[in-house]
Amino acid sequence: MSEKAELILEGKSFQLPVVVGSENEKAIDITNLRQETGYITLDSGYKNTGATSSAITFLDGEEGILRYRGYPIEQLAERSNFLEVTYLLVKGELPTKEQLDAFAEKIKMHTLIHEDMKRFYEAYPTYAHPMGVVASITCSLSTFYPKSLNPNRSKDQVDLTITRLLAKFPTIAAWAYKNSVGHPVAYPKNSLGYVDNFLHMMFSLPSQEYEVDPVITSALDKLLILHADHEQNCSTSTVRIVGSSQANLYSSIASGCIALWGPLHGGANQAVIEMLDVIRNDGGDVMKFVAKAKDKDDPFRLMGFGHRVYKNFDPRARIIKKACDDVLNKLGIHDPVLDIAKKLEEVALNDEYFVERKLYPNVDFYSGIIYRALGIPVDMFTVMFALGRLPGWIAQWQEMIDHKEPIGRPRQIYTGATTRDYVNIAERG
Ligand code: SDX
Repeated sequence: MSEKAELILEGKSFQLPVVVGSENEKAIDITNLRQETGYITLDSGYKNTGATSSAITFLDGEEGILRYRGYPIEQLAERSNFLEVTYLLVKGELPTKEQLDAFAEKIKMHTLIHEDMKRFYEAYPTYAHPMGVVASITCSLSTFYPKSLNPNRSKDQVDLTITRLLAKFPTIAAWAYKNSVGHPVAYPKNSLGYVDNFLHMMFSLPSQEYEVDPVITSALDKLLILHADHEQNCSTSTVRIVGSSQANLYSSIASGCIALWGPLHGGANQAVIEMLDVIRNDGGDVMKFVAKAKDKDDPFRLMGFGHRVYKNFDPRARIIKKACDDVLNKLGIHDPVLDIAKKLEEVALNDEYFVERKLYPNVDFYSGIIYRALGIPVDMFTVMFALGRLPGWIAQWQEMIDHKEPIGRPRQIYTGATTRDYVNIAERG
């Protein structure tokens, strides 16, 4: 007999169904709560509220576990590649070699963006933050592909839109960088793999073709894998709720970019490097900044620390920290902020304030150090996060559509003025 939750309200007992997931997570199903009791639940920030059931990503914040479609992130980061992980997330299974080759070929046929879109870039000031450019141009794809607007789209139409998005997003992102440095764009080269083509579009110049470096390719590929999905985080929830109104995929993903941009979310990787540079330029006294982070009167936070779900080490941070040492050693780079980051981590992990609140380094704490070593500028860091998260957003949007989920529309508890009559302005005191 399936378990029930009993709720006693005003002396009346209500039985609520309990849902148990494949990893034995439990939820009280409140689908009919208001209809049966007249009550709703209240949970600011949805800290205790499940928005959906999903088969894409499982994470256990207490145990520091992260799996995409059941595969541990450690194995995927070590043995897979970003395009294969993209296939896994979007299609649900690891591809055969033939399936992966066909997937890669399809994407290669769509890497160009319409020449008219180049005018959008020319309209932005060079100081425009690339996230603002990427989000708006991603949404603009819907204006060039009006069939994507049709909510009654066929499976083939959805697949074509997904292919176009996976293919064009690296181009859109790289061209946003080129715009920010006033360089001419580099067109996609179909002879290159997904990650190398992005690096080519980022760094090739008319005078000098980008030279593929396997160390850089491997490091970036691993970073993109680690960012590919993370269940119902802020930006993914945004993609799902925007898509639930039957908005097209391009604008749903653009909304995910905008949610990710915030410094408490994907914008943290940029904020971490800016914080570490401030600490270095201030003389490197990490104790001073740890004290600031603990001071309730000081708005300073240790960026890259803490997580809504992980109350143990973020498994991605552990992998990235190791990759940091590998990449900087292989590239022969010594970045002083890496030493500061390690010292900051050591001090914080032994400080009661952080221990008590279970604040550990998250995915953003070390990633910026690698991006900088790869030659990627700080204001492109969140764009890199979006490039990695794109397959996860797409998979989550597609799952919401396939499940025919209703339009997202939370309730509220009203706390404003009770009813009162209008008073003409002439009679107001
Ligand atoms: C990402 O959700 C995901 O999965 C996101 C993500 C993904 O892959 O999609 O993992 C990516 O967004 C990672 C997080 C990146 N953000 C940062 O690094 C910014 C710094 N971290 C925080 O602002 C904070 O930890 C959050 C936003 C990540 C989580 O915030 P919560 O869960 O709402 O927790 P909270 O703000 O209520 O903090 C609980 C306590 C508070 O102190 P008290 O009120 O209990 O005294 O911990 C303190 C906070 O002040 N705290 C921090 C802190 N983070 C939390 N204090 C100092 N420095 C910090 N970084």
